[in-house]
Amino acid sequence: MSRKIPLIDLKKEFEVLRSELIPAIDAVFSSGQYILGSQVDELNGKVQSLLGVQHHIACGNGTDALIIALKALGVQPGDEVITTPFTFVATAETIAFIGAIPVFSDINPQTCLMDTETIESRVTRKTKAIIPVHLFGQMVPMEPIMAIAKKYELKVIEDTAQAFGATQNGRVAGTIGDIGTISYFPTKNLGAYGDAGGMITNNESLAKTCSLLANHGQTHKYEHHLIGLNSRMDTFQAAILNVKIKYLTKWNAQRAENAELYKKYLDPDIETPVTAPGNNHIYHQYTIKIDHRDELQSFLKEKGIGTAVHYPIPLNEQPAIVTLNIPKFPTPVASQTAKRVLSLPMNPYLLENDIRYVAEQINTFVKHHS
Ligand SMILES: Cc1ncc(COP(=O)(O)O)c(C=O)c1O
Repeated sequence: MSRKIPLIDLKKEFEVLRSELIPAIDAVFSSGQYILGSQVDELNGKVQSLLGVQHHIACGNGTDALIIALKALGVQPGDEVITTPFTFVATAETIAFIGAIPVFSDINPQTCLMDTETIESRVTRKTKAIIPVHLFGQMVPMEPIMAIAKKYELKVIEDTAQAFGATQNGRVAGTIGDIGTISYFPTKNLGAYGDAGGMITNNESLAKTCSLLANHGQTHKYEHHLIGLNSRMDTFQAAILNVKIKYLTKWNAQRAENAELYKKYLDPDIETPVTAPGNNHIYHQYTIKIDHRDELQSFLKEKGIGTAVHYPIPLNEQPAIVTLNIPKFPTPVASQTAKRVLSLPMNPYLLENDIRYVAEQINTFVKHHS
């Protein structure tokens, strides 16, 4: 069987955009401004107008964006930060990295998003912030989170790495809490061709602090007012993102159409993604839940179909986190979900035929295992 359907297809994307990307890269070479070139400011402006947010501060990657956001909001060693265990490691790793304490909620069994009902029981006198993660392309219900944050005077960082451009009741992901953090990792809906990230906020003073922290706390050349990081976005990455950002709205709509096609062709008994009320889902991932998941993954691999498990181990069960001296709360839904999730090929270049083929293979597998 020679058919190949990868999970994502960055080579195809490059071929489609080659005639625009090569001159954009060439312009960076011609300028000689490899760090903080004009393309970075241009990107800040483009993200601000696309998302309708006052400030976008470009930085090195989405992990640094979380570290900078935590620092900018004054999270100190020993403070507790409540987040979800069902996310990429960076969300909790960054909390621990600055010496604060990650405290885990459980997740909603349908959407896999942070379970807002378990958050309040995790609040203590040490709690300083909440990090909801807008997972797989849709937003965590923000109303209950903002209500808890208001009640206990907590800061909110929206981890928007997987949901650039998603909305909830018309409000844009990353713009409801104090700071939204973004990853432009190559596989994201808006991805660079290397590491890149950013922070968004409507608070001018926070924007200034984030911008200083991302560049050695430097106000003027060799004058440093804060202890910061070297986390500036590479000019090449900004040039690439300036080309790609024009297509994001169209690409996100194509992903949503692909999700509809999966639903049409997959057996109706298969647990397909559930969208929370009020959400516009941008399908960063199309993640189903299924028994015999590992067997299905091997079966699909034999058929030339790329898949991934997001995520096989909840963060509170990860070796690096288990050894931390942190409050231990049971998260049974996250543990169960981690055994059953499988992300299927999802990108704007998928053809209806490809989706039908993937769905048919899964339907055949399920028939033989029921
Ligand atoms: C939810 C989440 N948070 C944070 C990150 C970290 O971003 P980066 O890889 O750009 O450091 C990622 C992805 O990579 C992510 O998926």
